Amino acid sequence: MSLGLRITRSLQVEVVVLLCVALGVIRSLAQTTDTTVDNGDISCLQSLQDAFKGEGVGFLLTNWTGDGFPCKSNVTYAGLFCSNEHVRDIDLRSMKLEGEISPDISKCSALSNLDLSDNQLTGVIPIQIGQLEQLSKLNLSFNNLYGEIPDFSKALFTNVIDLHNNDLSGSIPTNLGYLLRLTTFDVSYNDLSGPIPPLLANTTTGGVRFNASSFEGNSGLFGYPLQQQMNHGLSVLAIVGIGLGSGMLSLIVSFTAVCIWLRVTEQRGAAEEGKISQLMPES
Ligand SMILES: *[C@@H]1O[C@H](CO)[C@@H](O)[C@H](O)[C@H]1NC(C)=O
Ligand SMILES: *[C@@H]1O[C@H](CO)[C@@H](O)[C@H](O)[C@H]1NC(C)=O
Ligand SMILES: *[C@@H]1O[C@H](CO)[C@@H](O)[C@H](O)[C@H]1NC(C)=O
Ligand SMILES: *[C@@H]1O[C@H](CO)[C@@H](O)[C@H](O)[C@H]1NC(C)=O
Ligand SMILES: *[C@@H]1O[C@H](CO)[C@@H](O)[C@H](O)[C@H]1NC(C)=O
Repeated sequence: MSLGLRITRSLQVEVVVLLCVALGVIRSLAQTTDTTVDNGDISCLQSLQDAFKGEGVGFLLTNWTGDGFPCKSNVTYAGLFCSNEHVRDIDLRSMKLEGEISPDISKCSALSNLDLSDNQLTGVIPIQIGQLEQLSKLNLSFNNLYGEIPDFSKALFTNVIDLHNNDLSGSIPTNLGYLLRLTTFDVSYNDLSGPIPPLLANTTTGGVRFNASSFEGNSGLFGYPLQQQMNHGLSVLAIVGIGLGSGMLSLIVSFTAVCIWLRVTEQRGAAEEGKISQLMPES
């Protein structure tokens, strides 16, 4: 290889490296300008608007607009609360909303409080809700949500999960028990089944964590603290009663049977005796 060729080779390499660096800088610049325009909150809220239906949406459509929406204007928007230029709260309870919860809810990455309770929402709880790492309060109670409870294991700071009065089915994910900050948990009045995760029922020291009121109204759910209620239909007293009752009945039945049998054999015996005495020659 000649010296000249070697030099041009290294020059080529340098040019390529430089180009790559320049491209990288341009791309990262583009990304930073991107995030200042939309840090995810706008697309999150738009996707929610798109997936909601019903009377309440009209108001949201006229309200959730304008320069600086959602977190860079002086205007407050219905149901939204921002802090540090991020959407922290979405509170749309009792807004007569129908339709579904968009999975793009996860783009509201700083979301801490989501209250969509007391609407007529259907569909499943998107698994993406469980990926909101800053979620602390979730209230989806009093809707028509179905499907399974998603995995919340990334939402480690969650204090409140209220899903009562929906149509949720399947079993309660065991790892919900690992959410140590949980102070309110309510899945009552759904269609859940299977065992209650022990870590939700009992504290690590063996005391009561969430009592029966968090779990009641699910016909297929069992285990402490519901066990007593499951047995309620057939309490010990009832079982003893049924046992005694059936025992008495069989006693009465067999006693009557024996009596009848005795009567019949007695009568037959008497008749036989008569016959015999008739047949017997007079001695
Ligand atoms: C949205 O509604 C709030 C009150 O809920 C009001 O203060 C605000 O001005 C409204 N904004 C728009 C853009 O309509
Ligand atoms: C917010 O409101 C204050 C006073 O009401 C005003 O001085 C300021 O210019 C407003 N900022 C924006 C971005 O509208
Ligand atoms: C959830 O919302 C319902 C209906 O709006 C309300 O009754 C309930 O108290 C709320 N749950 C919590 C834990 O705040
Ligand atoms: C849970 O707590 C209750 C009440 O303190 C207790 O009766 C029950 O044995 C505990 N269960 C377990 C598995 O620790
Ligand atoms: C169950 O716990 C709730 C609070 O989490 C409490 O208000 C309620 O009285 C408790 N019910 C029973 C039967 O202990």
